Amino acid sequence: MNVVIINGSPHKGNSWTIAEIVKEQMIKTANENINFEEVHLLKHDIPMCTGCFNCFTYGENTCPHHEKIQAIAKLIEKSDATIIISPVYSLQLTALTKNFIDHMSYNFHRPRYFTKKALIITTTAGAGDKKSAKYIRDVVKHWGFNRAYMLHFRVKSSGGYQPTQEVIAKCNDVADKFCKDILSGQMHSATLKRLFYYNFWRTMSRAGTPETSYDNYYWKETGLREIPFPYEVPNGPVKRAFGDAIYKLTKKALNR
Ligand SMILES: Cc1cc2nc3c(=O)[nH]c(=O)nc-3n(C[C@H](O)[C@H](O)[C@H](O)COP(=O)(O)O)c2cc1C
Repeated sequence: MNVVIINGSPHKGNSWTIAEIVKEQMIKTANENINFEEVHLLKHDIPMCTGCFNCFTYGENTCPHHEKIQAIAKLIEKSDATIIISPVYSLQLTALTKNFIDHMSYNFHRPRYFTKKALIITTTAGAGDKKSAKYIRDVVKHWGFNRAYMLHFRVKSSGGYQPTQEVIAKCNDVADKFCKDILSGQMHSATLKRLFYYNFWRTMSRAGTPETSYDNYYWKETGLREIPFPYEVPNGPVKRAFGDAIYKLTKKALNR
């Protein structure tokens, strides 16, 4: 099993302490059949997103920073699961984490990662841990992730954090569930919200032609345009019908 860990903290600090506990438990649950790839965003020195829209219009490989971003995106692609870590700075996730997320925004228009699972870890001194974790979870669900777990803690410390037994127990519990879920290969059916967004972008991708719009090219080329949600995710006939209804309604409403 391959897991990529994306560290949005500028150092191996409090949030990394939590990640280490999670790693240890996952190694136990997976009987050591697990490989972790670490991405420390600071070391990747990714410039700020320039807002050029190239990724949306012409494809992710036309981003001025695509070499740096696609190197990380490829790790997500070839792994079974992704762990994203961010401390809370000024009541929110770090700029490092957000800059990475901004560069990955094309995945809102062109979701993928439908069979992948994620774990989000946030830590704070006093506030913003849950809100930040929920935000990152929402983002990865938009990217297509099948399920996202969360661990968020108020660590009441600026450094040298010593997790309590209660925190360790919570980390072990969530890491065990996360790991077993990955090992099982089970796909969880999509929520109505997910079905809505998928089918909304399915409609939006009809703008232009595959030659003029990368979204159009992607949805046509992958065959996703034809289906109300990827088949790997077991949605049943009612949810599939709901997805198709959203597609038809938005197509009509937006004249696509
Ligand atoms: C620049 C900066 C801003 C911070 N802002 C907040 C904040 O708004 N609210 C809060 O409760 N803690 C805040 N903290 C504390 C961190 O969230 C907390 O110490 C966290 O566990 C640090 O994780 P790390 O060691 O992985 O970087 C801030 C810390 C730094 C360095």
